[in-house]
Formats: sequence, structure tokens, C-alpha cells
Amino acid sequence: MQLIKVKDYEDLSCRAANFLAAQIWMKPCCVLGLATGSTPVGIYRRLCRMYDKGELDFSSVTTVNLDEYKGLCPEHAQSYAYFMRQHLFGQVNLDPDRTFLPDGMNPDEEKECTRYETLIQELGGQDLQLLGLGHNGHIGFNEPAEQFIPLTHLVSLSKRTITANKRFFASAEEVPGQAYTMGIGTILKARKILLVVSGKEKADILQQVLFGPVTPAVPGSVLQLHADVTVVADEAAFSACSL
Ligand code: F6R
Repeated sequence: MQLIKVKDYEDLSCRAANFLAAQIWMKPCCVLGLATGSTPVGIYRRLCRMYDKGELDFSSVTTVNLDEYKGLCPEHAQSYAYFMRQHLFGQVNLDPDRTFLPDGMNPDEEKECTRYETLIQELGGQDLQLLGLGHNGHIGFNEPAEQFIPLTHLVSLSKRTITANKRFFASAEEVPGQAYTMGIGTILKARKILLVVSGKEKADILQQVLFGPVTPAVPGSVLQLHADVTVVADEAAFSACSL
């Protein structure tokens, strides 16, 4: 694991954007696994800026997102499809037919999970998977559990995640209780993983993810087993680690 300590959120966004850009320069037809949430916003902003300046070409890139709320259509302002259009897809020359997310509107759980998992494998898997880290150690929406769930699945969101995500909704009651997410195995099959973490409130969980036991109770800890993980975190997020 490569650990990169940066000063603050701006530095983190810059480092991580450069990392993603390098992946696209290296392999223009790459498959990028993407994340939503607050942490990647600055990264996407920088990628859009690089595209505007003519430094990046997304025309051959394919994207697969980690997750989507069940029951939200792509037009819903809190859906992850909408988030991705706002922050990246709508701003760069990505082919809309090559940007993929789980279909939150598919009521057939089994079919949707199989469809998404098969799609990712048929694309050849992610060359690079971008990950944020939940306050409870989740990656994607793989919540703390008794066992790791390998493949794309429907998950019931924990109270902690619903509380954390209610900032995007009018109230906690409006946060969908379930989401489709890539599984731990789907994530681990990515050839490279980039984990980005910012802020003091994630310091303890980041310490557990990096140096604690590998356990489904802290889903991110499984990243210790992957051969090519880069962690970019700011000083506040690394403050519980003795680096
Ligand atoms: C988002 C996702 C989540 C977030 C995590 C951190 O697609 O899968 O795992 O990465 O909840 O979210 P932020 O960045 O908002 O703290």
C-alpha cells in the first residue's frame, strides 16, 4: 500500500485528479470505477478543468460507479446518476452510452445485481477504482457486517450511513433505506485502487482500515489484501496514524 499524506482537501483533490488523469493518459480506453459523496467533488472539478484546458480526453473512457440508491430514478436530484452528471459526465466528453451505474429503479434485486456484475466483468473489470471511506469503514455501500459479500448486491443502509447522508436530503426519512452496491470482490478485482479520505472525523476509522485486523466489521480493512492500493489522505485524516 502506498500512503500519501497531503496538507488538506485541496491538495488531496489535486493529487487524486492527477492520478486519475495519468490512468487515462496511460490507457485512453480504460475502465474507471467511480465514487460519489463529498470527497470526490474536488477531484471531479479538477478533471473537468483539465478537460476544458484540452489536457484530458474522455472519449474512449468507460465508467462504472460503485453504487446507486434503490428507488431513485436517474433524474432524481439525490440519485448518484444525477450526481455524476452534475459533477463529471455532463461536463466532459464521456460517451453517455459508456457510463454505467446500478439501476436503482430495477425492482428485481436478483436480476439487477447479476446484470451489473456481468456488465463489469464483460468490460474487463476496472483498471482503476476510486473509493471514498464511510465513517463506519464502508467502501461502496458495503456496510459493516459479519461477512464480506463478494458480488454486487442490494444492501440495507446502516443508521450511521443514513444519518451521514441525510445532509443531501430534506430529512433522514427521505434517505432511501437500500442501495445497490458493488461487492467487496467486485472492488478487489480492480487492477488499481485509489482511496481518498479527508477530515479529522475519519481519522480513527482510517487508522483501523490501514492498521487494524482485516474484518468485515471494518469493510475497508480488506484493502490491506490488495496488491496495488494508493491512499491519498490529508493530515487531519491521517492524524490517528503514526506516519
Ligand atoms: C459513494 C460511496 C461511499 C462514499 C463514502 C464516503 O459512491 O460509495 O462509500 O465514498 O460514504 O462519502 P463522503 O465522501 O461523502 O464522506
